[in-house]
Amino acid sequence: MAQKATLIVDGKQFELSILEGTEGERAIDISRLREETGLITFDPSMANTGVCRSEITFVDGENGILRYRGIPIEEFTERPNFIEVAWLLIFGRLPTRDELTAFSEKLTEHELLHEGIKHQFQHIPVDAPPMAILSATVSSLAYYHHQFLSVEDTESLAEAAARLISKVRTIAAFAYRRSQGMPFIYPDPKLRYCANFLHMMFSIPYRQYVVTPEIEDALNLVFILHADHEQNCSSSVVRAVGSARANLFASCAAGVSALWGPLHGGANVEVMQMLERIHQGGLSPEQCLRDAKDKTNPFRLYGFGHRIYKNYDPRAKILKQMCEKVFAQVKRHDPLLDIARKLEELALADPYFVERRLYPNVDFYSGILLRAMGIPTNMFTVCFAIGRLPGWIAQWKEQHEDPAGRIVRPRQLYVGPVKKHYVPLDER
Ligand code: CMC
Repeated sequence: MAQKATLIVDGKQFELSILEGTEGERAIDISRLREETGLITFDPSMANTGVCRSEITFVDGENGILRYRGIPIEEFTERPNFIEVAWLLIFGRLPTRDELTAFSEKLTEHELLHEGIKHQFQHIPVDAPPMAILSATVSSLAYYHHQFLSVEDTESLAEAAARLISKVRTIAAFAYRRSQGMPFIYPDPKLRYCANFLHMMFSIPYRQYVVTPEIEDALNLVFILHADHEQNCSSSVVRAVGSARANLFASCAAGVSALWGPLHGGANVEVMQMLERIHQGGLSPEQCLRDAKDKTNPFRLYGFGHRIYKNYDPRAKILKQMCEKVFAQVKRHDPLLDIARKLEELALADPYFVERRLYPNVDFYSGILLRAMGIPTNMFTVCFAIGRLPGWIAQWKEQHEDPAGRIVRPRQLYVGPVKKHYVPLDER
């Protein structure tokens, strides 16, 4: 029997349906609430609001569980293949070998940027933030791919997705090369996705950068662990922009902008800066925690806490293990890893963090791993964006195909001045 919730307003009773997800999450359906009662709900920052039905990603924050299309992320760690995961997220099931090969070939076919876009880079200041370049350039893909400004079938969506997923790494690498004043290195069609990105980042003319299998696996894993996280800030933005029937390029560019924020994807940069300050002696781990707890100080322990996880973020657990594995393989030691471990130990024993259930999140260890690959700090959030792109595309597609998907248009509780009259300038 369908379950109902009862709401009593001014002595009048209203029945609201209770919906249930496949993993047992329950939601009160308020979609007709205003129509029936004249009331809206008030939920700042939408912390308790389900905005869609989704089949893409399941997160259980209490128990530290993350699954893509039902598959636990831990199962992608053995032989990580980011492109396979991208296909899974976008198209809803694991690809067959032929489908994966066809998609990989499509990525190779579209890995170059239009020379017009390449010339755009010459006009960008060398010290421009790479996330600004990424957002602007993803948006400008719309200049050159008019045929995908509207995608109404899976075939054209696959074409547009392949262009975006392939070109984003070329854009990212070119942004880095521009900041270094170094020549752009074209993609190498013989290389796989991650190796090709590192080649464009680090090869120089006549000397090809050679990636080791350990580093290639580590980068695949970093991208996979960032690939989707249900209705996070940037994905919600992508859905909201897409709900206006804005094209995929514009919607993903908006996602990049949201991701840039230090409370979201930008946190990986803040973590690294925090660890470096501690390493250089400008801050002790104990002082760092004191600052994070001080409510008069805007500083936070970056890489800690999460809206959904009230337990160890499973992505952070895998990244920490990968850090240890990579450093053992390359026989190198990074003092920042020791500092991160120390901070984690202190925070997990501190009543402030324990009471608020603040644990390491995906951004706490990802930077140390990216640093081990030679990726500079200002490219960390760009790498997060490359990883998150398939998730944005999957969310955009789901929203686009949802028959119940109307334009996103929240309500508000107006608390401004009541009606008053305009006063002409010379009477003020
Ligand atoms: N350091 C110190 N205090 C914290 C932290 C932190 N990292 N995170 C949360 N708190 C406190 C917060 O001040 C609040 O305290 P009180 O109850 O006394 O007011 C309480 O914990 C609850 O925090 P909140 O800000 O209400 O939680 P939220 O769900 O709105 O925000 C968050 C989640 C991720 C923005 C927040 O935990 C944070 O700012 N963390 C640091 C930034 C960060 O690591 N972001 C990456 C998130 S994971 C990847 C991604 O989404 O991109």
